[in-house]
Amino acid sequence: MRLLSLLLTVSLTLALAYYIYIPLPDAIQQPWKLMILDAYLRTAFHVASLKQWLGFDHQTRSFRQFTFGFEGILKEFLSTESSAGAVPGVKVSDISFAGIPVRVYEPPAGGEGHLRRGLMYFHGGGWAVGTTKKGPYDITNRMVSDELNTVVVSVEYRLYPDVHFPVPYLDCIAAAKHFLSPEVLAKYSIDPDRVAVAGDSAGGNLAAAVAQEISVDDSMSVKFSVQALIYPVLQALDFNTPSYLQNQYIPVLYRTSMIQFWLQYLNIDLSLMPEFLVNNHSALQHSSLTPELRSRLDWNVLLTQKYKKNYKPVIVEKGSEGFLKRVPGLLDVRAVPLLAGPEVLAKCPRAYILTCEHDVLRDDGLMYVRRLQDAGVAVTSDHYEDGFHGCFSLTSWPLEFDVGKKALRGYLSWLQNNL
Ligand SMILES: *[C@@H]1O[C@H](CO)[C@@H](O)[C@H](O)[C@H]1NC(C)=O
Repeated sequence: MRLLSLLLTVSLTLALAYYIYIPLPDAIQQPWKLMILDAYLRTAFHVASLKQWLGFDHQTRSFRQFTFGFEGILKEFLSTESSAGAVPGVKVSDISFAGIPVRVYEPPAGGEGHLRRGLMYFHGGGWAVGTTKKGPYDITNRMVSDELNTVVVSVEYRLYPDVHFPVPYLDCIAAAKHFLSPEVLAKYSIDPDRVAVAGDSAGGNLAAAVAQEISVDDSMSVKFSVQALIYPVLQALDFNTPSYLQNQYIPVLYRTSMIQFWLQYLNIDLSLMPEFLVNNHSALQHSSLTPELRSRLDWNVLLTQKYKKNYKPVIVEKGSEGFLKRVPGLLDVRAVPLLAGPEVLAKCPRAYILTCEHDVLRDDGLMYVRRLQDAGVAVTSDHYEDGFHGCFSLTSWPLEFDVGKKALRGYLSWLQNNL
């Protein structure tokens, strides 16, 4: 009997270790914490799939509850407060801007007589999960408001599966135009020359696209003065960039997960995933993807050797017919900001772009750094050799990572000096 229970314990422990363990690059610090987080997310994903299969709720909706309930559950369980939790002086209001729900953070100081900074934030989460109200985004935006004396507006744009592109983009652009109107800026005592747009991951995609659109819109008298993009998603035409290949199995954003987020956003059937994995969707036969457009995301030219390493471009001669016609979003700069022309980029605001070495999206960000610089825009490129996707949101207990805290500090100090 005792032998049996011992055997059972040993095999369960081994099974658990096997489930949790993922080989990670040496550069990643606190690897076990990352593995446990990833195992939690994988489990949540499987449970959410099971719930959908049983007919309870959409997988993405259940997954959303799991992801943003995690910290809350742990904190309640251990009944401790996060060190970076509520900032007492910041006034928080949940209101709407042009019909779009937003959460506004007003700093304790100022308002009477002297003007403050403004910042609009779009959270990440693959256009499918994430919220302004709970977890890391709420903490970070409170911090920005308090430490930088900034009025922060965090936008609760609509998500998949309720909507697809272009709805999230249109929500963001509507909120941005409302925010930049002289009346609203005056109401919050914001200096019109010091308004930023920022976002991480899918939110970085929205921030880049919104910054471009506002920059070329002659009807806007106030424009964003800076943009801060945290490991942004910027293109969907090449899923074989060196970073997509190098980091395809690095948590928490796997290559197939990122492609799945894109397919959901652009309303493409998930059964087409294999075609996207081999770049069939951007095959040379598609004449609408002109050489000029291709050059805008040609990593063989836009990346330095340090990042290209020995990777070779994956260019398919012939893919399936009519792909780009069926999915116009793939060539739409509002979804794929890296495709914007130099004349648009030249008008864009000064930029801070954060990239992580161990992130499938590294090259999206690095290519945008280069293209903005080529267009004459001043860019600060902040690259974290020990960074991984999502670290910017993993800064408070129990999910704190040193690299995340460093990245958050880098973002705050750039804004302090440039906004
Ligand atoms: C890519 O397209 C080619 C040509 O249509 C087709 O033969 C091939 O099976 C496709 N690859 C995948 C993985 O779907």
